[in-house]
Amino acid sequence: MKEIVQEINDIRRQWGKKLLILGHHYQRPSVLCHADELGDSLELSRKAASHSEAERIVFCGVKFMAESADILTNRNQTVYMPDISAGCPMANMADADEMTESWKMLESHGGEWLPVVYVNSSAEIKACCGKWGGSTCTSSNASKVFKWVFAQGKKVFFLPDEHLGINTAYDMGIPDNEVLLYDPGKQNGGIRTEELARAKVIVWKGFCLVHVAFKPEHVIEARKKFPDAKIIVHPETPREVVRMCDAHGSTSQIIKYVEAAAAGSTIIVGTELNLVDRLAAEQKCRVTVKALSSSVCANMAKTNANNLLALLKEWPARNEVHVPESVAVDARKSLTTMLNL
Ligand code: 13P
Ligand code: SF4
Repeated sequence: MKEIVQEINDIRRQWGKKLLILGHHYQRPSVLCHADELGDSLELSRKAASHSEAERIVFCGVKFMAESADILTNRNQTVYMPDISAGCPMANMADADEMTESWKMLESHGGEWLPVVYVNSSAEIKACCGKWGGSTCTSSNASKVFKWVFAQGKKVFFLPDEHLGINTAYDMGIPDNEVLLYDPGKQNGGIRTEELARAKVIVWKGFCLVHVAFKPEHVIEARKKFPDAKIIVHPETPREVVRMCDAHGSTSQIIKYVEAAAAGSTIIVGTELNLVDRLAAEQKCRVTVKALSSSVCANMAKTNANNLLALLKEWPARNEVHVPESVAVDARKSLTTMLNL
């Protein structure tokens, strides 16, 4: 292992600023120790866009993040992933054909909607969003983007995570009967025409396997074991669990919450286990951090020090992430709308 670390360090030194390694908070520590920048999805998009000196960007995360980096960087910059098969199952829960069908249905009923697409989505979905005047969002800025839609007198068509959509609508005080679920497996998404008129937000039926694993019984159990502890979860967690917790936020917001906790306190965290374990190790002299339940993202785990080193040594073309310009042009619109908000 020491040799791998040494070899990666040597290669990074040779490349200097021409190489940028980005690491999402869910990556394992043996990968994150090589990252130039760590962050949540929003921060990493911004960082990819701002390092114009980097010729090669290695994204240690999942495919939709690397695609966003490719869309936001220049032609002379190339984005790579150590394991190109690291996708996000939630991002695959909406495809461009399904989105087009749903959009036609909404347009035929008055055209008062704007798409808001969670960055955990394919480049094609982001392109549809950009083409139809919408914006992407992340778990840290979803309410800001919803407000931007409402300020234009429009309604939100949110995809592909029903839980982030429902949690955001709830946080903004939107009554439950004004939030509809669109099920792509059903005729017209399972929505009746008369329901559309009263709806303010439509959420696509999609979810993250890692976060729907958190159940009300985990919160009940944690409250019993640690009555003084605070509990924070990621907003991809279902509403029935979120409402039992003290706070919710993106990965970076969870980190800030733990860092701001009083010395001697206990914080229970409901998100991907690598981040919880890292926080527990970093904070162990000050705050006790525990997992609400052990939940791992198998795709984030595909990246490791071995495939990172193999990439840095050989730069195989199969590890490059290229979004065709025909798709990127509209996808960029939806991403830059968010970044400019
Ligand atoms: P963040 O934007 O909070 O980093 O979340 C990304 C993600 O994939 C959560 O499952
Ligand atoms: Fe996708 Fe969930 Fe993994 Fe995040 S944790 S990358 S949403 S599967």
